[in-house]
Amino acid sequence: MIKSFKISVVLLFLSILCLLSLRTKSTPTYLFVQCLNTTTYTPNSTYQTNLNTLFSSLSSNSTSINGFSNSTAGLNPPEIAYGLFLCRGDVSTDVCQDCVTTATKEVVQRCPKSKVVTIWYDECMLRYSNRSIFSIPDQSYREVLRNTQNVTNITSFRGVLGGVMDAIATRASNGGSAKKFATSQANFSSLQTLYGLAQCTPDLNGMDCNKCLRDGISNFPSCCDGNLGARVVFPSCNVRYEFYPFYNITATALPPSPPPPSAVLPPPSGPSTSRGKGGISTQGLIAILVPIGVSVLLFIVGFCFITRKSKKKYDAIEEDTIGSDIPTDESLQYNLGTVQAATNNFSAENKIGEGGFGLVYKGTLSNGQVVAVKRLSRTSGQGAEEFKNEVVLVAKLQHRNLVRLLGYCLEGEEKILIYEFVPNKSLDYFLFDPQEQEKLDWLKRYKIIEGIARGMLYLHEDSRLRIIHRDLKVSNVLLDGDMNAKISDFGMARIFGVDQTQGNTSRVVGTYGYMSPEYAMHGQFSVKSDVFSFGVLVLEIISGKKNNTFYESGSAEDLLSYAWKLWTKERPLDLMDSTLEGSYSKSEVIRCIHIGLLCVQEDPEDRPSMTTVILMLSSYSVTLSVPQQPAFFARSKTESMPKSFDSDQSASKSISWSVNEASITELDPR
Ligand SMILES: *[C@@H]1O[C@H](CO)[C@@H](O)[C@H](O)[C@H]1NC(C)=O
Ligand SMILES: *[C@@H]1O[C@H](CO)[C@@H](O)[C@H](O)[C@H]1NC(C)=O
Ligand SMILES: *[C@@H]1O[C@H](CO)[C@@H](O)[C@H](O)[C@H]1NC(C)=O
Ligand SMILES: *[C@@H]1O[C@H](CO)[C@@H](O)[C@H](O)[C@H]1NC(C)=O
Ligand SMILES: *[C@@H]1O[C@H](CO)[C@@H](O)[C@H](O)[C@H]1NC(C)=O
Ligand SMILES: *[C@@H]1O[C@H](CO)[C@@H](O)[C@H](O)[C@H]1NC(C)=O
Ligand SMILES: *[C@@H]1O[C@H](CO)[C@@H](O)[C@H](O)[C@H]1NC(C)=O
Ligand SMILES: *[C@@H]1O[C@H](CO)[C@@H](O)[C@H](O)[C@H]1NC(C)=O
Ligand SMILES: *[C@@H]1O[C@H](CO)[C@@H](O)[C@H](O)[C@H]1NC(C)=O
Repeated sequence: MIKSFKISVVLLFLSILCLLSLRTKSTPTYLFVQCLNTTTYTPNSTYQTNLNTLFSSLSSNSTSINGFSNSTAGLNPPEIAYGLFLCRGDVSTDVCQDCVTTATKEVVQRCPKSKVVTIWYDECMLRYSNRSIFSIPDQSYREVLRNTQNVTNITSFRGVLGGVMDAIATRASNGGSAKKFATSQANFSSLQTLYGLAQCTPDLNGMDCNKCLRDGISNFPSCCDGNLGARVVFPSCNVRYEFYPFYNITATALPPSPPPPSAVLPPPSGPSTSRGKGGISTQGLIAILVPIGVSVLLFIVGFCFITRKSKKKYDAIEEDTIGSDIPTDESLQYNLGTVQAATNNFSAENKIGEGGFGLVYKGTLSNGQVVAVKRLSRTSGQGAEEFKNEVVLVAKLQHRNLVRLLGYCLEGEEKILIYEFVPNKSLDYFLFDPQEQEKLDWLKRYKIIEGIARGMLYLHEDSRLRIIHRDLKVSNVLLDGDMNAKISDFGMARIFGVDQTQGNTSRVVGTYGYMSPEYAMHGQFSVKSDVFSFGVLVLEIISGKKNNTFYESGSAEDLLSYAWKLWTKERPLDLMDSTLEGSYSKSEVIRCIHIGLLCVQEDPEDRPSMTTVILMLSSYSVTLSVPQQPAFFARSKTESMPKSFDSDQSASKSISWSVNEASITELDPR
């Protein structure tokens, strides 16, 4: 007994150490950078040294409760580096810290020699300069990001938008020196809610902030009239609106003090400045309670381990290689040691991808089986029991066109999913790369389309659960050695605990360009929103073009409009990837384009079900209806959104692509 106790204590400390060193970082979403190339410094100059000092002091200050800090480094005027960062008003200090730290690392790669730089992420902004920038309003640079799809009733929209933005500009500029940030939401129609956000760097005074915000808002009518979402970003302030909750509503809705039980509630998003005050003591409390709680938890976990460890190790591995039909909770569970050993302790060399849920590693189990290990980031709000239950359910989904979930590891704060390893990369790797493209002849592409359709049909109809994928896209289609399509990331919403009530979720899923209009605008998802994404995928596979790279420039069309135009001009084959020349059956390609267009029709009712899609693909005797003009939603680019359900086993994606690849988060209506 005593011996066992001692071991447990040791284990406890090891676990704590392990936990501290394993804190999963959140990856911020990069937006853009402004480098003033006219002012440059030379390598190893004093300015560079000062800059490094500045970065470390900003990073260490990024736990600042206000999400803002300024700092200077250096003594002699021409070489002094002035810097500041600002985190979006609703993000937690952890996310803020990760964002600022990432920014200080990446900014020197993106702007190697510039003395005057501003870099923006979705979660934070970092600026530095060789002259003082504190308390000085700066609108010298402007960036506009927008969703080019239009709202349905522009007249009433202008009014609602004006009201919302006006109110939050006022509230943000009255925010005091701690935080100048405000959000608000308004009912636009019975189904649509408009969400607005305004924020200044809090070093500005109220008047400057107000002016900056109003300048930003006054851009909306010219840049983005009637657009479904837009933001205007200056160095000193930014404004944004969307039809989905792009900020953490819970965080912004925290009232200054607990309201009396029967009193009228304060407006949904009170000025966040008041948040800091109440937070300090709570934070202190948390700082004390959390370690105690964690220790106790770890102690129990550790204790349980000692007694169960040896047994479990074998269960997990054996069961999985055999591939039992109905996996049990036990057989799915891997212990952290096994996973660490398999991935060489999550070494950087083993990293093969990076998605919204965390990093993905290649691993080799002790029996030689190669697996993909997805280490979920800590933002999962799921309890252990629910997590297990959902994993067990999702692991039961087995189909040759689905990436198989083999098991999970749940220890302390770690939540890890273990998947079969799919040897080739994801479809986007082949489809959009000029060299690799050629490897996908028409036969392979047709087989891939069929495979995706079969996988989706299984999710929608044939499996015991009805799973709506909600984020079907090229990067979520992996290819095995024979170029068979395997869909990944299905069921993530369940596993991640977002499949719940509105109040609990501010994150789920979807990627601009693939989201059906009813999902993007109203948050309504159904099997038919998956069908829409499938249609976009089909058109991408045929054309070899990314839907979401057609963006912004006004004249440019999106893939759906382009495909539709060619269709109405009776030149559907012009859509085809030029590398496909000669190797295809015309009627097959035209039929696929036809099916693709049927799937992206505006009205979900008009879209075929996956059952029908399979019928249409496999039998020419099925007559296809005439497609209606597609929903021209996909034109949007630059919405940058929180986490994406990005590809897992695809080549690891540089963060710079996350703007185009960005995913939307959506409330999960029930
Ligand atoms: C400034 O320099 C960066 C990196 O050297 C480069 O990517 C960018 O295009 C330059 N910008 C201008 C306006 O010349
Ligand atoms: C800068 O310093 C580093 C190490 O101190 C050295 O390796 C490098 O060559 C220097 N670069 C220049 C341009 O002087
Ligand atoms: C920022 O960091 C510096 C030193 O790293 C420290 O002196 C200063 O008090 C910090 N400021 C805030 C607001 O935390
Ligand atoms: C931050 O900015 C204020 C002016 O807004 C200035 O007084 C203060 O010295 C700055 N802090 C640092 C560390 O440079
Ligand atoms: C900043 O650097 C540029 C050139 O690198 C220089 O011309 C300018 O005078 C500097 N500004 C200050 C305030 O030192
Ligand atoms: C949105 O409306 C603008 C004019 O208000 C128009 O130029 C643009 O083509 C419309 N966009 C879409 C996707 O319909
Ligand atoms: C647009 O909204 C306005 C004001 O709410 C209303 O009067 C008008 O009829 C609406 N137009 C359409 C086409 O629904
Ligand atoms: C928006 O509509 C919902 C119900 O449809 C209602 O509960 C809520 O109070 C409305 N919000 C505002 C700001 O009018
Ligand atoms: C939103 O904010 C609340 C309160 O600060 C926090 O508990 C929750 O984890 C946040 N949600 C997300 C998805 O970050």
